[in-house]
Amino acid sequence: MSEPLRIGIAGLGTVGSSVAQILKNKSNSLAHRCGRPIAVTGVSARDRSKDRGFDMSGISWFDTPEQLAASPDIDVFVELVGGENGAALEGIKAAIGSGRHIVTANKALLARHGVELARACEDKGLILNFEAAVAGGIPVIKTMRESLAANDCSRVYGILNGTANYILTRMERDEISFDDCLADAQRLGYAEADPTFDVEGQDTAHKLAILTSIAFGTEVAVDQIYVEGISNISLSDIHAARDLGYRIKLLGVAQRTATGIEQRVHPTMVPLGSMIGQVDSVTNAVAIEADTVGSLLLSGPGAGGNATASAVIGDIADIAKSRPGHQEAPVFGRPANELEPYRRAGMSSHAGGYFIRLTVHDRLGVFASLAGHMAENDISLESIVQRKASNGDADAAKTVILITHESTESEVRKAVNAILDDGHLIGKPQVIRIEPAG
Ligand code: NAP
Ligand code: HSE
Repeated sequence: MSEPLRIGIAGLGTVGSSVAQILKNKSNSLAHRCGRPIAVTGVSARDRSKDRGFDMSGISWFDTPEQLAASPDIDVFVELVGGENGAALEGIKAAIGSGRHIVTANKALLARHGVELARACEDKGLILNFEAAVAGGIPVIKTMRESLAANDCSRVYGILNGTANYILTRMERDEISFDDCLADAQRLGYAEADPTFDVEGQDTAHKLAILTSIAFGTEVAVDQIYVEGISNISLSDIHAARDLGYRIKLLGVAQRTATGIEQRVHPTMVPLGSMIGQVDSVTNAVAIEADTVGSLLLSGPGAGGNATASAVIGDIADIAKSRPGHQEAPVFGRPANELEPYRRAGMSSHAGGYFIRLTVHDRLGVFASLAGHMAENDISLESIVQRKASNGDADAAKTVILITHESTESEVRKAVNAILDDGHLIGKPQVIRIEPAG
């Protein structure tokens, strides 16, 4: 058998410690599959005294990821620290500087620096693998980058954040509060170090930015994504969605349009009977629509130590099997220097169905005003449902739910603003986009 592949792991938290444990527990089967042993030779984290659940004897400790990346005793630098800058970025730059291959699960860092790092790795013939950065244990990067080479993509969308999907599922199923659901997701190791990234949609945006680049051959453009999170979704919205034949999911969607590529992250109504509508808890799903294959849906665990470690170790195994001196596949599926500039389709031209929930004063003329503003803005309604408001004075307030046929974002915003100006509303209107989904 050949020489061992020597691994340096920076970050020994939820993911890093799972990776180290599995590499140890499955060392024999991995060595057989890869044709050579894989050995952890160096690690770095903040607290040297913490028990990481594996035997660290014989493994060198480094005080910083940067020092680990520069060590002559590693072949692969595995970055599992997190954060778009700081120690993670310094470590990766040091690894490139010292000619080490890299594996990372860090979508925030790739969404911000991915193209620049890909260019540097491609120039030096280094591998930069990041399967775990999108949709946890689902092998979506490899599928899109390698297995779908014969395809031009028209739309890629999905449930890309396990924490948000876990929260929405438990709120619906167990009727427990948003905060309690989030605390459970943190305890289970699903959430980011700063969980606002999960609930406010930024984590989904980081992953969507990476998928968009691979799907459409464009530079990563995370700042161009329209982002709305789930913190404004109430149990009333979840119940109303179900009554109308929908479920609410936090989706990331990228699609080619006549004016450019639309990238958006927002709570979305998907049909109750659709496959994606049935994806629950920490499970993620990525749907790909492409010309040669048609439609695909990949689903699986989107977060958690072992599921994420599975993807990280798959990336390490690919490096173990790679042939030195052989030209490596480009990081984003096309050489970084040939990625096209991203051309954005503005959110105001987005067209689709809308769910609009309004709490109104129960008085004469309100319905006429609502209907009038919809008609003035060319919005045709599929349905109107009226019920007693669940909050406030039930005698004086009504909840009205409008479902529109396909309308544009700008038409809907104008109509809702005009309704607000009329002074009939109690509280803020709720607007949720509806997505056709398989
Ligand atoms: P985590 O549990 O918070 O672990 C982070 C680790 O990094 C800890 O071991 C910490 O050390 C270490 N660390 C932090 N700052 C450091 C510094 N300045 N220098 C050296 N070490 C430092 O995070 P995680 O959940 O494992 O996530 C790691 C990465 O994987 C992130 O990029 C995350 O987005 C990504 N990811 C996570 C999941 C998931 O389900 N958790 C899934 C997919 C991708 P101490 O332990 O000593 O504090
Ligand atoms: N916090 C992320 C999630 C981890 O909940 O999906 C996986 O990327």
